[in-house]
Amino acid sequence: MKRKSEETNDPGTTGHVWDGIEELNNPLPRWWLWTFYLTIIWGIGYTIMYPAWPLITGATPGVLGYSSRAEVRADINAVNAANAAIDQRLVSAPLASISNDPELQRYATAGGGALYRTYCSQCHGAGAAGGPGYPNLLDDDWLWGGTLADIQATLAHGVRWEEDPDTRYSQMPAFAEILSAEEIGQVAEHVLAISGQEFDAAAEAAGKTVYADNCSGCHGDGGKGDQGQGAPNLTDVIWLYGGDREALTTSIAKPHFGIMPAWSQKLTPLQIRQLAVYVHQLGGGQ
Ligand code: HEC
Ligand code: HEC
Repeated sequence: MKRKSEETNDPGTTGHVWDGIEELNNPLPRWWLWTFYLTIIWGIGYTIMYPAWPLITGATPGVLGYSSRAEVRADINAVNAANAAIDQRLVSAPLASISNDPELQRYATAGGGALYRTYCSQCHGAGAAGGPGYPNLLDDDWLWGGTLADIQATLAHGVRWEEDPDTRYSQMPAFAEILSAEEIGQVAEHVLAISGQEFDAAAEAAGKTVYADNCSGCHGDGGKGDQGQGAPNLTDVIWLYGGDREALTTSIAKPHFGIMPAWSQKLTPLQIRQLAVYVHQLGGGQ
Protein backbone atom coordinates (compact mmCIF):
# COMPACT_ATOMS: atom_id res chain seq x y z
CA MET A 1 0.00 0.00 0.00
CA LYS A 2 1.33 3.43 -1.02
CA ARG A 3 0.87 6.16 1.59
CA LYS A 4 -0.61 9.56 0.68
CA SER A 5 2.21 12.00 -0.06
CA GLU A 6 1.73 15.59 1.14
CA GLU A 7 4.20 17.06 -1.33
CA THR A 8 3.11 15.49 -4.60
CA ASN A 9 -0.65 15.60 -3.81
CA ASP A 10 -0.69 11.90 -4.66
CA PRO A 11 -3.73 10.34 -2.90
CA GLY A 12 -1.97 7.02 -2.51
CA THR A 13 -3.73 3.72 -3.12
CA THR A 14 -5.88 1.40 -1.04
CA GLY A 15 -3.55 -1.44 -1.83
CA HIS A 16 -6.23 -3.18 -3.96
CA VAL A 17 -4.94 -4.30 -7.35
CA TRP A 18 -6.89 -6.06 -10.08
CA ASP A 19 -5.15 -7.09 -13.26
CA GLY A 20 -2.60 -4.42 -12.61
CA ILE A 21 -5.15 -1.67 -12.02
CA GLU A 22 -4.68 0.04 -8.65
CA GLU A 23 -7.51 1.60 -6.62
CA LEU A 24 -6.65 5.19 -5.65
CA ASN A 25 -7.51 6.30 -2.13
CA ASN A 26 -9.16 9.65 -2.97
CA PRO A 27 -11.15 11.26 -0.11
CA LEU A 28 -14.93 11.40 -0.65
CA PRO A 29 -16.13 14.78 -1.94
CA ARG A 30 -17.35 16.92 0.95
CA TRP A 31 -20.77 17.71 -0.58
CA TRP A 32 -21.34 13.98 -1.01
CA LEU A 33 -20.37 13.18 2.56
CA TRP A 34 -22.66 15.84 4.00
CA THR A 35 -25.57 14.69 1.87
CA PHE A 36 -24.93 11.20 3.11
CA TYR A 37 -24.99 12.29 6.79
CA LEU A 38 -28.15 14.35 6.16
CA THR A 39 -30.01 11.39 4.65
CA ILE A 40 -29.14 9.33 7.73
CA ILE A 41 -30.47 12.05 10.04
CA TRP A 42 -33.57 12.50 7.85
CA GLY A 43 -34.12 8.71 7.79
CA ILE A 44 -34.00 8.46 11.58
CA GLY A 45 -36.36 11.42 11.90
CA TYR A 46 -38.74 9.89 9.36
CA THR A 47 -38.96 6.54 11.13
CA ILE A 48 -39.80 8.37 14.36
CA MET A 49 -42.46 10.64 12.82
CA TYR A 50 -44.15 8.25 10.34
CA PRO A 51 -45.25 4.58 10.28
CA ALA A 52 -42.05 2.70 9.50
CA TRP A 53 -40.85 -0.40 11.29
CA PRO A 54 -42.81 -3.57 10.53
CA LEU A 55 -44.31 -5.32 13.54
CA ILE A 56 -46.16 -8.65 13.57
CA THR A 57 -49.60 -7.28 12.66
CA GLY A 58 -48.80 -3.78 11.45
CA ALA A 59 -46.05 -1.21 11.81
CA THR A 60 -44.84 1.37 14.32
CA PRO A 61 -47.42 4.18 14.04
CA GLY A 62 -45.00 7.14 14.21
CA VAL A 63 -45.50 10.13 16.52
CA LEU A 64 -47.44 12.17 13.92
CA GLY A 65 -50.16 9.52 13.79
CA TYR A 66 -50.34 9.78 9.98
CA SER A 67 -52.20 7.05 8.03
CA SER A 68 -52.96 6.97 4.33
CA ARG A 69 -56.18 5.12 5.09
CA ALA A 70 -57.36 7.90 7.40
CA GLU A 71 -56.54 10.37 4.62
CA VAL A 72 -58.69 8.43 2.11
CA ARG A 73 -61.48 8.17 4.68
CA ALA A 74 -61.35 11.92 5.23
CA ASP A 75 -61.50 12.51 1.44
CA ILE A 76 -64.50 10.19 1.12
CA ASN A 77 -66.25 11.91 4.01
CA ALA A 78 -65.59 15.28 2.41
CA VAL A 79 -67.12 14.12 -0.91
CA ASN A 80 -70.12 12.61 0.89
CA ALA A 81 -70.62 15.81 2.85
CA ALA A 82 -70.42 17.88 -0.33
CA ASN A 83 -73.02 15.60 -1.99
CA ALA A 84 -75.32 15.31 1.02
CA ALA A 85 -77.76 17.93 -0.21
CA ILE A 86 -78.17 16.55 -3.73
CA ASP A 87 -78.29 12.97 -2.40
CA GLN A 88 -81.13 14.00 -0.13
CA ARG A 89 -82.94 15.64 -3.04
CA LEU A 90 -82.52 12.51 -5.16
CA VAL A 91 -83.90 10.05 -2.59
CA SER A 92 -86.85 12.23 -1.70
CA ALA A 93 -87.87 13.58 -5.14
CA PRO A 94 -91.00 12.04 -6.68
CA LEU A 95 -89.70 9.65 -9.37
CA ALA A 96 -91.56 11.38 -12.16
CA SER A 97 -89.97 14.74 -11.38
CA ILE A 98 -86.35 13.64 -11.64
CA SER A 99 -86.12 13.98 -15.40
CA ASN A 100 -87.42 17.56 -15.18
CA ASP A 101 -84.45 18.57 -13.05
CA PRO A 102 -81.38 18.45 -15.34
CA GLU A 103 -78.90 18.70 -12.46
CA LEU A 104 -80.51 15.83 -10.57
CA GLN A 105 -80.86 13.73 -13.72
CA ARG A 106 -77.19 14.26 -14.61
CA TYR A 107 -76.04 13.48 -11.08
CA ALA A 108 -78.12 10.29 -10.87
CA THR A 109 -77.01 9.11 -14.31
CA ALA A 110 -73.31 9.61 -13.55
CA GLY A 111 -73.54 7.77 -10.22
CA GLY A 112 -75.73 5.06 -11.74
CA GLY A 113 -73.23 4.49 -14.56
CA ALA A 114 -70.41 3.89 -12.08
CA LEU A 115 -72.60 1.54 -10.04
CA TYR A 116 -73.69 -0.26 -13.21
CA ARG A 117 -70.09 -0.97 -14.15
CA THR A 118 -69.43 -2.39 -10.68
CA TYR A 119 -72.54 -4.47 -10.05
CA CYS A 120 -74.39 -5.15 -13.28
CA SER A 121 -72.01 -5.41 -16.22
CA GLN A 122 -71.00 -8.98 -15.32
CA CYS A 123 -74.46 -10.21 -16.31
CA HIS A 124 -75.94 -7.51 -18.57
CA GLY A 125 -72.72 -6.70 -20.41
CA ALA A 126 -70.44 -3.64 -20.31
CA GLY A 127 -72.68 -1.84 -22.81
CA ALA A 128 -75.93 -3.21 -21.25
CA ALA A 129 -76.84 -5.11 -24.44
CA GLY A 130 -77.30 -8.32 -22.45
CA GLY A 131 -76.70 -11.80 -23.80
CA PRO A 132 -78.36 -15.22 -23.79
CA GLY A 133 -80.40 -15.35 -20.57
CA TYR A 134 -79.58 -11.75 -19.59
CA PRO A 135 -81.96 -9.11 -20.93
CA ASN A 136 -80.80 -6.26 -23.10
CA LEU A 137 -81.41 -3.03 -21.14
CA LEU A 138 -80.99 -0.74 -24.15
CA ASP A 139 -84.16 -1.65 -26.03
CA ASP A 140 -87.79 -0.96 -25.15
CA ASP A 141 -88.68 -4.64 -24.80
CA TRP A 142 -89.33 -5.13 -21.10
CA LEU A 143 -90.07 -8.34 -19.24
CA TRP A 144 -91.27 -6.57 -16.10
CA GLY A 145 -91.98 -3.04 -17.31
CA GLY A 146 -89.88 -0.08 -18.37
CA THR A 147 -91.17 2.87 -16.34
CA LEU A 148 -88.84 4.33 -13.76
CA ALA A 149 -91.00 2.84 -11.00
CA ASP A 150 -91.01 -0.62 -12.65
CA ILE A 151 -87.24 -0.59 -13.06
CA GLN A 152 -86.71 0.62 -9.50
CA ALA A 153 -88.91 -2.22 -8.19
CA THR A 154 -87.08 -4.82 -10.32
CA LEU A 155 -83.73 -3.59 -9.01
CA ALA A 156 -84.78 -3.39 -5.38
CA HIS A 157 -86.45 -6.80 -5.17
CA GLY A 158 -84.88 -8.81 -7.97
CA VAL A 159 -86.50 -11.51 -10.05
CA ARG A 160 -87.21 -14.95 -8.52
CA TRP A 161 -84.84 -14.02 -5.69
CA GLU A 162 -86.29 -16.15 -2.96
CA GLU A 163 -84.74 -14.34 0.01
CA ASP A 164 -86.81 -11.24 -0.83
CA PRO A 165 -90.53 -11.67 -0.04
CA ASP A 166 -91.39 -8.88 -2.53
CA THR A 167 -89.35 -10.31 -5.37
CA ARG A 168 -90.89 -10.43 -8.84
CA TYR A 169 -91.97 -14.01 -9.27
CA SER A 170 -93.49 -16.27 -11.88
CA GLN A 171 -92.70 -19.75 -13.04
CA MET A 172 -93.38 -21.11 -16.47
CA PRO A 173 -94.26 -24.81 -16.05
CA ALA A 174 -91.84 -27.37 -17.46
CA PHE A 175 -94.02 -28.59 -20.35
CA ALA A 176 -91.90 -31.71 -20.83
CA GLU A 177 -93.88 -33.02 -17.86
CA ILE A 178 -97.27 -31.81 -19.14
CA LEU A 179 -97.35 -32.11 -22.92
CA SER A 180 -96.18 -34.85 -25.27
CA ALA A 181 -93.08 -34.27 -27.39
CA GLU A 182 -95.38 -33.98 -30.39
CA GLU A 183 -97.46 -31.25 -28.75
CA ILE A 184 -94.31 -29.35 -27.75
CA GLY A 185 -93.15 -29.55 -31.37
CA GLN A 186 -96.54 -28.28 -32.55
CA VAL A 187 -96.66 -25.32 -30.17
CA ALA A 188 -93.07 -24.45 -31.10
CA GLU A 189 -94.25 -24.22 -34.74
CA HIS A 190 -96.97 -21.82 -33.58
CA VAL A 191 -94.38 -19.63 -31.83
CA LEU A 192 -92.29 -19.67 -35.02
CA ALA A 193 -95.41 -18.54 -36.91
CA ILE A 194 -96.35 -15.65 -34.60
CA SER A 195 -92.74 -14.43 -34.56
CA GLY A 196 -92.69 -14.23 -38.35
CA GLN A 197 -90.40 -17.18 -39.02
CA GLU A 198 -90.75 -20.19 -41.34
CA PHE A 199 -93.02 -22.88 -39.91
CA ASP A 200 -94.70 -26.19 -40.71
CA ALA A 201 -98.36 -25.35 -41.46
CA ALA A 202 -99.92 -28.68 -40.46
CA ALA A 203 -98.14 -28.83 -37.09
CA GLU A 204 -98.82 -25.14 -36.49
CA ALA A 205 -102.56 -25.62 -36.87
CA ALA A 206 -102.52 -28.11 -33.99
CA GLY A 207 -100.03 -25.94 -32.09
CA LYS A 208 -102.48 -23.02 -32.10
CA THR A 209 -104.83 -25.07 -29.90
CA VAL A 210 -102.03 -26.23 -27.62
CA TYR A 211 -101.06 -22.57 -27.25
CA ALA A 212 -104.57 -21.41 -26.42
CA ASP A 213 -104.93 -24.15 -23.80
CA ASN A 214 -101.53 -23.87 -22.13
CA CYS A 215 -99.75 -20.63 -22.91
CA SER A 216 -102.12 -17.75 -23.47
CA GLY A 217 -102.74 -17.27 -19.74
CA CYS A 218 -99.21 -15.89 -19.41
CA HIS A 219 -98.04 -14.94 -22.89
CA GLY A 220 -101.41 -13.51 -23.93
CA ASP A 221 -103.81 -14.54 -26.69
CA GLY A 222 -101.72 -12.99 -29.42
CA GLY A 223 -98.38 -13.85 -27.77
CA LYS A 224 -97.56 -10.27 -26.81
CA GLY A 225 -96.50 -11.30 -23.30
CA ASP A 226 -97.54 -10.02 -19.89
CA GLN A 227 -95.30 -7.76 -17.87
CA GLY A 228 -97.28 -8.52 -14.72
CA GLN A 229 -95.84 -12.04 -14.88
CA GLY A 230 -92.54 -11.31 -16.59
CA ALA A 231 -93.76 -13.42 -19.52
CA PRO A 232 -91.84 -12.37 -22.65
CA ASN A 233 -93.43 -11.12 -25.84
CA LEU A 234 -93.13 -14.03 -28.28
CA THR A 235 -94.01 -12.06 -31.40
CA ASP A 236 -91.01 -9.74 -31.56
CA VAL A 237 -87.59 -10.83 -32.74
CA ILE A 238 -86.09 -10.20 -29.32
CA TRP A 239 -85.33 -13.47 -27.56
CA LEU A 240 -83.93 -14.02 -24.14
CA TYR A 241 -82.94 -17.61 -24.85
CA GLY A 242 -82.96 -17.85 -28.66
CA GLY A 243 -85.71 -17.99 -31.27
CA ASP A 244 -84.87 -20.91 -33.56
CA ARG A 245 -86.81 -24.19 -33.49
CA GLU A 246 -84.34 -25.91 -31.19
CA ALA A 247 -84.05 -23.05 -28.68
CA LEU A 248 -87.83 -22.64 -28.56
CA THR A 249 -88.36 -26.36 -27.96
CA THR A 250 -85.89 -26.21 -25.06
CA SER A 251 -87.49 -23.06 -23.58
CA ILE A 252 -90.91 -24.75 -23.68
CA ALA A 253 -89.89 -28.20 -22.46
CA LYS A 254 -87.65 -26.97 -19.65
CA PRO A 255 -87.95 -23.21 -18.95
CA HIS A 256 -84.88 -21.38 -17.78
CA PHE A 257 -86.21 -19.66 -14.64
CA GLY A 258 -83.93 -16.62 -14.89
CA ILE A 259 -82.78 -15.13 -11.60
CA MET A 260 -81.74 -11.57 -10.90
CA PRO A 261 -80.46 -10.60 -7.42
CA ALA A 262 -82.46 -8.25 -5.16
CA TRP A 263 -80.20 -5.23 -4.82
CA SER A 264 -81.88 -3.67 -1.78
CA GLN A 265 -79.96 -6.22 0.26
CA LYS A 266 -76.67 -4.82 -0.93
CA LEU A 267 -77.18 -1.22 -2.10
CA THR A 268 -78.76 1.84 -0.47
CA PRO A 269 -82.07 3.33 -1.68
CA LEU A 270 -80.04 6.22 -3.10
CA GLN A 271 -77.85 3.87 -5.15
CA ILE A 272 -80.89 1.97 -6.42
CA ARG A 273 -82.44 5.26 -7.54
CA GLN A 274 -79.26 6.23 -9.34
CA LEU A 275 -79.23 2.86 -11.11
CA ALA A 276 -82.91 3.07 -12.02
CA VAL A 277 -82.41 6.52 -13.57
CA TYR A 278 -79.31 5.26 -15.39
CA VAL A 279 -81.06 2.18 -16.85
CA HIS A 280 -84.16 4.21 -17.70
CA GLN A 281 -82.18 6.72 -19.79
CA LEU A 282 -80.24 4.03 -21.68
CA GLY A 283 -82.80 4.19 -24.44
CA GLY A 284 -85.73 1.96 -23.58
CA GLY A 285 -87.24 3.82 -20.63
CA GLN A 286 -91.00 4.37 -20.79
C1 HEC B 1 -76.32 -12.52 -11.67
C2 HEC B 1 -76.68 -11.89 -12.91
C3 HEC B 1 -77.32 -10.51 -12.84
C4 HEC B 1 -76.83 -9.38 -12.26
C5 HEC B 1 -75.52 -9.20 -11.51
C6 HEC B 1 -77.77 -8.34 -12.56
N1 HEC B 1 -78.82 -8.84 -13.27
FE1 HEC B 1 -80.38 -7.78 -13.95
N2 HEC B 1 -81.24 -9.50 -14.62
C7 HEC B 1 -80.65 -10.75 -14.62
C8 HEC B 1 -81.56 -11.71 -15.21
C9 HEC B 1 -81.28 -13.19 -15.42
C10 HEC B 1 -82.73 -11.01 -15.55
C11 HEC B 1 -83.96 -11.59 -16.20
C12 HEC B 1 -84.90 -12.12 -15.18
C13 HEC B 1 -86.13 -12.71 -15.83
O1 HEC B 1 -86.02 -13.76 -16.47
O2 HEC B 1 -87.20 -12.10 -15.69
C14 HEC B 1 -82.49 -9.61 -15.16
C15 HEC B 1 -83.41 -8.60 -15.33
C16 HEC B 1 -83.14 -7.26 -15.13
C17 HEC B 1 -84.06 -6.18 -15.41
C18 HEC B 1 -85.46 -6.35 -15.94
C19 HEC B 1 -85.44 -6.24 -17.43
C20 HEC B 1 -86.81 -6.29 -18.04
O3 HEC B 1 -86.86 -6.52 -19.26
O4 HEC B 1 -87.81 -6.09 -17.34
C21 HEC B 1 -83.41 -5.00 -15.12
C22 HEC B 1 -83.96 -3.60 -15.28
C23 HEC B 1 -82.10 -5.36 -14.64
N3 HEC B 1 -81.97 -6.72 -14.66
C24 HEC B 1 -81.15 -4.44 -14.23
C25 HEC B 1 -80.00 -4.81 -13.53
C26 HEC B 1 -79.15 -3.86 -12.88
C27 HEC B 1 -79.30 -2.35 -12.90
C28 HEC B 1 -78.17 -4.60 -12.27
C29 HEC B 1 -77.05 -4.10 -11.38
C30 HEC B 1 -77.46 -3.49 -10.12
C31 HEC B 1 -78.41 -5.99 -12.58
N4 HEC B 1 -79.55 -6.08 -13.33
C32 HEC B 1 -77.61 -7.03 -12.16
C33 HEC B 1 -79.41 -11.04 -14.14
C34 HEC B 1 -78.58 -10.17 -13.45
C1 HEC C 1 -97.09 -19.33 -15.76
C2 HEC C 1 -96.83 -18.46 -16.88
C3 HEC C 1 -96.33 -19.10 -18.18
C4 HEC C 1 -96.93 -20.05 -18.94
C5 HEC C 1 -98.20 -20.82 -18.66
C6 HEC C 1 -96.09 -20.21 -20.11
N1 HEC C 1 -95.02 -19.38 -20.05
FE1 HEC C 1 -93.53 -19.23 -21.40
N2 HEC C 1 -92.55 -17.99 -20.17
C7 HEC C 1 -93.00 -17.52 -18.97
C8 HEC C 1 -91.95 -16.76 -18.32
C9 HEC C 1 -92.07 -16.09 -16.98
C10 HEC C 1 -90.84 -16.81 -19.18
C11 HEC C 1 -89.49 -16.16 -18.93
C12 HEC C 1 -88.41 -17.19 -18.99
C13 HEC C 1 -87.88 -17.75 -17.71
O1 HEC C 1 -86.99 -17.13 -17.12
O2 HEC C 1 -88.30 -18.87 -17.33
C14 HEC C 1 -91.25 -17.59 -20.34
C15 HEC C 1 -90.45 -17.81 -21.43
C16 HEC C 1 -90.86 -18.44 -22.59
C17 HEC C 1 -90.07 -18.56 -23.78
C18 HEC C 1 -88.66 -18.01 -23.99
C19 HEC C 1 -88.76 -16.65 -24.62
C20 HEC C 1 -87.44 -16.01 -24.93
O3 HEC C 1 -87.46 -14.78 -25.10
O4 HEC C 1 -86.42 -16.68 -25.01
C21 HEC C 1 -90.83 -19.22 -24.70
C22 HEC C 1 -90.45 -19.58 -26.11
C23 HEC C 1 -92.09 -19.53 -24.05
N3 HEC C 1 -92.07 -19.04 -22.77
C24 HEC C 1 -93.12 -20.20 -24.64
C25 HEC C 1 -94.20 -20.69 -23.94
C26 HEC C 1 -95.17 -21.61 -24.49
C27 HEC C 1 -95.15 -22.12 -25.90
C28 HEC C 1 -96.04 -21.89 -23.50
C29 HEC C 1 -97.19 -22.86 -23.52
C30 HEC C 1 -96.86 -24.22 -23.89
C31 HEC C 1 -95.66 -21.11 -22.34
N4 HEC C 1 -94.54 -20.41 -22.64
C32 HEC C 1 -96.37 -21.09 -21.15
C33 HEC C 1 -94.24 -17.73 -18.42
C34 HEC C 1 -95.14 -18.68 -18.87
